[in-house]
Amino acid sequence: MNIPNKIDLCNKPTRIEKLERTSKKYNKNIFLKREDETGTETSGNKIRKLEFCLKEALEQGATHILTCGDLESNHARSTVAACRKVELNPIVFLRAGEIPSTSGNHFLDIVFGAEINYVGVDAFNSGIDKIMKEKLASLLEQGMKGYIIPMGASCGIGNFGYYSVMKEIMDQEKTLNISFDTIVTTIGSGGTYAGLMMANKIHSFNKTIVGIPICDTKEIFEEKILNILEESNGYLEKSVNYSRSDLKITKDFAGLGYALNTEEELQFIKDFAITEGVLLDPTYTGKAFRGMTKLFEENFFESSKNILFIHTGGVYRLFSKQTQTQINKLK
Ligand SMILES: Cc1ncc(COP(=O)(O)O)c(C=O)c1O
Repeated sequence: MNIPNKIDLCNKPTRIEKLERTSKKYNKNIFLKREDETGTETSGNKIRKLEFCLKEALEQGATHILTCGDLESNHARSTVAACRKVELNPIVFLRAGEIPSTSGNHFLDIVFGAEINYVGVDAFNSGIDKIMKEKLASLLEQGMKGYIIPMGASCGIGNFGYYSVMKEIMDQEKTLNISFDTIVTTIGSGGTYAGLMMANKIHSFNKTIVGIPICDTKEIFEEKILNILEESNGYLEKSVNYSRSDLKITKDFAGLGYALNTEEELQFIKDFAITEGVLLDPTYTGKAFRGMTKLFEENFFESSKNILFIHTGGVYRLFSKQTQTQINKLK
């Protein structure tokens, strides 16, 4: 099947490692796909999607990339870093309160010299698309061409990122001589799940793909993911039909809300770091991995034996928890 072109911007294939102690604890074979190792500057899942988005932008003759996210957005930081590799000018719109503090991803956006526009929470939530379109128009007036990447690069073209990762995993199954029955990912804006699902459906890989939401509800994401998958159909020679029954999305593990953490969640991240020597992040993978362990207790994963959890990255967000929380005082 023909899929859109991409530019190579990340380390791949990423490693798959077995979590020996966690596997023993839950009596399952649990593996991590280390998408946090896609690159130092571009660490995490977003670069997979950006490989396709930025190629499309270059093909369209773009000079500037416009995107948006939270103040500590992994996606914004990845986009900014990737733009610098291909000589595109990054412009980011970050959702921020009064005085934006600099730590983690936000600090790196500054190091990469991005044009940063801080947008108040209400204005961002009610009209970020309009704000970015206005900027696009003003660039055009000045003879420059912008290309908008929506939040999280969760869009028709971005989906081909995790479509490709799914194929990469199928190749790794052969070299590792293992068959994963279940693949688990965090859901933040939906594109990682949608891409994995798209490949699973098109190529009949017959894997159970489980998505664990860390902000909105299962129902909201089902609709969102079906919409993104429909957008991707626009890039294929033959459309694929999807329905809610194709999706396996769990209840949400948002906890106190997006990017907020309970002490228990932070303790889970610290315990995991000590047990496995791996850093999870506080906004996405920490909440989702902990969610998965809660669901083990509820027998949600009863029929799963070999589970591959996609470590989608986010490590720089951990630094924003230094002052906000007392992680150094935990056990
Ligand atoms: C580290 C990390 N993990 C997971 C996600 C969620 O992925 P997606 O937006 O594709 O659902 C994001 C971004 O939203 C992220 O930054």
